[in-house]
Amino acid sequence: MLLPARRPDGSGRRKASRATTVRGVNIDFDELQAQARTTLDPGVFQYFAGAAEDEETLADNRLAWRRRKLRPRFLVDVDVIDTSTSVLGTPLPTPMMVAPMAYQRLLHDDGELAVARGSAATGTPMIASTMATHSLEDIAAAAGGGPMWFQLYVHEDRDFTLALCHRARDAGYRAIAVTLDMPRLGNRRRARRIGFEMPSVVPNFAMEGGPSGNRYASRGFDVSVTEEMLGWLSREAGLPILVKGILRGDDALRSLDAGAAGIIVSNHGGRQLDGAIATADALGEVAAAVDGRAPIVVDSGIRSGTDVVRALALGAQAVLIGRPVAWALATGGAVGVQAALEALQAEIDLAFRLAGVRSVAEITPDLIATV
Ligand SMILES: Cc1cc2nc3c(=O)[nH]c(=O)nc-3n(C[C@H](O)[C@H](O)[C@H](O)COP(=O)(O)O)c2cc1C
Repeated sequence: MLLPARRPDGSGRRKASRATTVRGVNIDFDELQAQARTTLDPGVFQYFAGAAEDEETLADNRLAWRRRKLRPRFLVDVDVIDTSTSVLGTPLPTPMMVAPMAYQRLLHDDGELAVARGSAATGTPMIASTMATHSLEDIAAAAGGGPMWFQLYVHEDRDFTLALCHRARDAGYRAIAVTLDMPRLGNRRRARRIGFEMPSVVPNFAMEGGPSGNRYASRGFDVSVTEEMLGWLSREAGLPILVKGILRGDDALRSLDAGAAGIIVSNHGGRQLDGAIATADALGEVAAAVDGRAPIVVDSGIRSGTDVVRALALGAQAVLIGRPVAWALATGGAVGVQAALEALQAEIDLAFRLAGVRSVAEITPDLIATV
């Protein structure tokens, strides 16, 4: 997608693209979170906003991106730029996707359907969670053919696990993100303190023979996902597998050797091991180890276009956005999600131009200051 600069009279040299038509849209995600807080049940708000234990990793995630300072290039004609890319064949108008988040119906009646509609309107693929509160098929239908990925929690019951993967494939999902960082649920102290209860009905479990309701929490998840399991899934799932939750170069290599097609560097938005390294700090090591063998996606604490440029300069091909989408859903439904993603797309477009890059290929490590 070629994005023209806007002329002072508002006209573009080329036909104005979505990202330029929304230039000027400005969303402060901290303000949006504060607004969501006023409308949501306090337990639901804390479940989405909170993280594990002392929330050390939650705080560090955002700071770590900001510690990376950019070295913009000038004497570059950034009048016409291209922010598009693709990951494992999934086209992205900007290097951004929506992170998988459980229980979105808690935020808005339309839950994942609204996120699917809002993100599809911007061309941004969404990753639907195993713990979605609408079925995989309904979410895919709401996206109206827009590309989607599925996030898988591996279950002890391998037939059930595989059936979920095949359902995703048959519903048109293009890749599966297998989350590795939840052998147990992290200690979400904030949400527990306020007495938040998980919903008991998760439609993706309403399959004959599968675990039902929220039994997943105590029984269903496989706590011993190994390379053998990953190899099996990669062969049988019928879709490319990315591993989500990687924070070390050696784990990335072991995953690729076992058959994974891509890596998602993530600490689950600080919700699992508190004290885990911020993803901005882990990404360089993972990128060096992977050395171009497979795509790397990164999430946790990414809140702006400049964060996206930093992530790409540190070696990622794309990013995932989590909580900002939750706040947009809570405050504005599908329209809110669309507006939030359009604002981020406009920020990414602006960050490219201000950093002096015309395409994702031009985002190289020298854009980050070493001191
Ligand atoms: C409320 C909530 C629910 C989540 N549910 C899932 C999930 O079902 N599966 C998963 O792999 N990650 C889940 N995550 C983690 C996100 O996919 C992502 O890694 C994280 O939110 C990114 O950080 P950010 O929120 O700072 O952007 C969840 C995160 C939140 C905040």
